[in-house]
Amino acid sequence: MPVGHGCYITRMSVRPARDVSGRVQEGEERLEQSLRPASFDEYVGQKKLVDNFRVYSQAARKRGEALDHVLLSGPPGLGKTSLAHILSTELGVALHVTSGPALVKKGDLAGLLTALAPRDILFIDEIHRLSPAVEEALYPAMEDYRFDVVLGAGLGAQTMEMKLERFTLVGATTRTGLLASPLRDRFPIQERLDYYAPADLMEIAIRAARKLALPVDPAGVEELARRARGTPRIAIRLLLRARDFAQVEGNGRIDPAIVQRTLTRLEVDASGLDAMDRRILTVVVDVFGGGPVGIEAIAAAVGEERDTIEDVYEPFLVREGYLARTPRGRVALPPAYAHLGRDRPRGGQDPLF
Ligand SMILES: Nc1ncnc2c1ncn2[C@@H]1O[C@H](COP(=O)(O)OP(=O)(O)OP(=O)(O)O)[C@@H](O)[C@H]1O
Ligand SMILES: [Mg+2]
Repeated sequence: MPVGHGCYITRMSVRPARDVSGRVQEGEERLEQSLRPASFDEYVGQKKLVDNFRVYSQAARKRGEALDHVLLSGPPGLGKTSLAHILSTELGVALHVTSGPALVKKGDLAGLLTALAPRDILFIDEIHRLSPAVEEALYPAMEDYRFDVVLGAGLGAQTMEMKLERFTLVGATTRTGLLASPLRDRFPIQERLDYYAPADLMEIAIRAARKLALPVDPAGVEELARRARGTPRIAIRLLLRARDFAQVEGNGRIDPAIVQRTLTRLEVDASGLDAMDRRILTVVVDVFGGGPVGIEAIAAAVGEERDTIEDVYEPFLVREGYLARTPRGRVALPPAYAHLGRDRPRGGQDPLF
């Protein structure tokens, strides 16, 4: 069994291509992977979380034990998969990769679990999308390193117990709220990734440019980082698009003019909102009178999947203070009106009450 950064890509799910949304886009996936941070030192930002993981992985290594199971949560493109790769490198174990939707039957899980060497990491992306049968089969595997196989059916059915090596499950999810609590509770280590500060995104873009041997102006990268919605994957996507414009319409250098042109062409505005962000705000403000409005109604009006809105767009709009989630639905806040150049309705209630 190869050890180290060796990675087994097992039935990875393929996601729909998106532009600057932060979701995986197939064509550039490989390039993005080559830009992945390879160690904790290369992993920019998320300082508290990284410091914790340094301690956890060193301690596990010292004891010669498997790291406790880890649940990583946070919006797409913030570095969950990258972190799983780094953990396997730091622990000197193999990483086996799969995803919730790819594990259709219990047998799919059994195949993966029985292939694990001691202390290996099993990474399950989109773990909130496991089927109930597979999820249930995961519980004894996580707790007792045991997999129960039922042989036969009806009264004559027998349960056979398969012993598993002690392994680490790393689960990634865009929203912990979607995880059943029995599953969530079985992860001793739970960490949430937060959006990145522009300075961190700038460093990520500069490092990526260096790897691509791409000449950059700090002012150009700074602007790009400021508009990347706090998301490393978007910073890298914008850099790759700016590279296209620089090479075709400029002199190959990522300078402020090229970055500006790129952002305009991609319809990313001065606050880093893209066309879909603006569409969502426009729908809430103009069509639904500022809300409260249900997520399904917004999804139908903008023609986007509810999950995508909740995973990709809404967290950023909420964090930036454009939208609020209330028990009665989504409500537009004053910055949304200001951003769209609309007057707030007079004499209305406080939008949050
Ligand atoms: N802390 C970081 N430092 C440097 N680069 C990063 C960091 N986090 C993410 N990246 C870059 O962003 C890209 C996307 O990160 P990654 O695939 O790990 O995100 P993710 O959270 O797994 O997203 P998803 O939820 O869509 O699976 C990586 O290829 C990597 O190049
Ligand atoms: Mg990922």
